[in-house]
Amino acid sequence: MMQKPKIMQWLKEKDPDRLAELWRRADEVRRLQVGDDVHLRGLIEISSHCVRRCHYCGLRRENRKIHRYRLRREEILACVRQAAEFGYGTVVLQSGEDREITGDWMTNLIGQLKSETDLAITLSLGERTCDELTAWRRAGADRYLLRFESSNKTLYRKIHPSLPGQQCDRMELLQVLGELGYEVGSGIMIGLPGQRYEDLAEDIVTFSKLDVDMIGVGPYLPHPDTPLGKAAAGKNHNDPEQVPNNERMTYKTLALTRLLCPEVNLPSTTALATINRTAGREQGLCRGANVVMPNLTPTEYRALYEIYPAKACCFEPAKEFHAHLMRQIGALGRTVGKGPGASIRYLKRTENKIDNQRKVPQL
Ligand code: 5AD
Repeated sequence: MMQKPKIMQWLKEKDPDRLAELWRRADEVRRLQVGDDVHLRGLIEISSHCVRRCHYCGLRRENRKIHRYRLRREEILACVRQAAEFGYGTVVLQSGEDREITGDWMTNLIGQLKSETDLAITLSLGERTCDELTAWRRAGADRYLLRFESSNKTLYRKIHPSLPGQQCDRMELLQVLGELGYEVGSGIMIGLPGQRYEDLAEDIVTFSKLDVDMIGVGPYLPHPDTPLGKAAAGKNHNDPEQVPNNERMTYKTLALTRLLCPEVNLPSTTALATINRTAGREQGLCRGANVVMPNLTPTEYRALYEIYPAKACCFEPAKEFHAHLMRQIGALGRTVGKGPGASIRYLKRTENKIDNQRKVPQL
């Protein structure tokens, strides 16, 4: 397996021919390991309320400039039906850490969705209690997304303050999610101020060590109403070890992630589409990615879910974006995935578990 020094070398690579070779290898591994299917996940941003104060995120509690919303159950159900109509196999329910979304309310919703549709359900609701995660899994939730954001503990603690009196280790939580049987997704931001090449290389190595099933990576995009966004505005970045938050670095990270974790599902993210609106999403798909998460949040709420400014696909109605995406995927010579589209990594991981259980002698 590729080691950290080699990864760092790639991250610093400038030669276009050598980079073309990296893109080619990542695309080939993607094709051989997970095939030509692009899996579509309907993203529903169910609440922009958040109790956290993450220094990078526009939804942080202290940002009083944004109008907060929480979708009603009927609104969520309408989005889910839309996903089913489009033929998507999965919906992703995402929100800030919203305490008004109680464990029971969510359990109930998951139960209803599971009884009415055969869609896979992915949750992305932040750091929640083990009891809640257990109940949601029992109710039928299939997957959970929780990025560890950065493997550099010092940087992570600085930008992601804990809640008073509550320490939470996301790495441990990822472990718990796996033990509960969730298909587990994690990820990071690229080019956080203070992130060095060595840190990003360690992030990529960490993906493979954690043995997660899905990995989401995207550029850090400064939000002016956050501490980190304000700090970034006034700084000139002359540290040669600082990772830039640009498009090329995102492709490098995607490609290297595919090489180190060949069987994972890897989305071409909205943050990437935001820094190159015309070609970002497609290029991501050609450099390691095999998933797209079209936004199904009702358009009137979409701009309010402002993790970072000028988010791509903020105004395009779901139907038009869907049609556009289908054309794009076809033009790349790729196919649209059918069914839930679990990651090959997860299927193998859980199959082994069953095999191991079978091997236990019956007393
Ligand atoms: N720029 C890019 N990505 C961000 N996220 C949060 N804030 C930003 C930002 N300013 C990412 C985090 C989080 C995910 C939902 O969005 O990685 O886990």
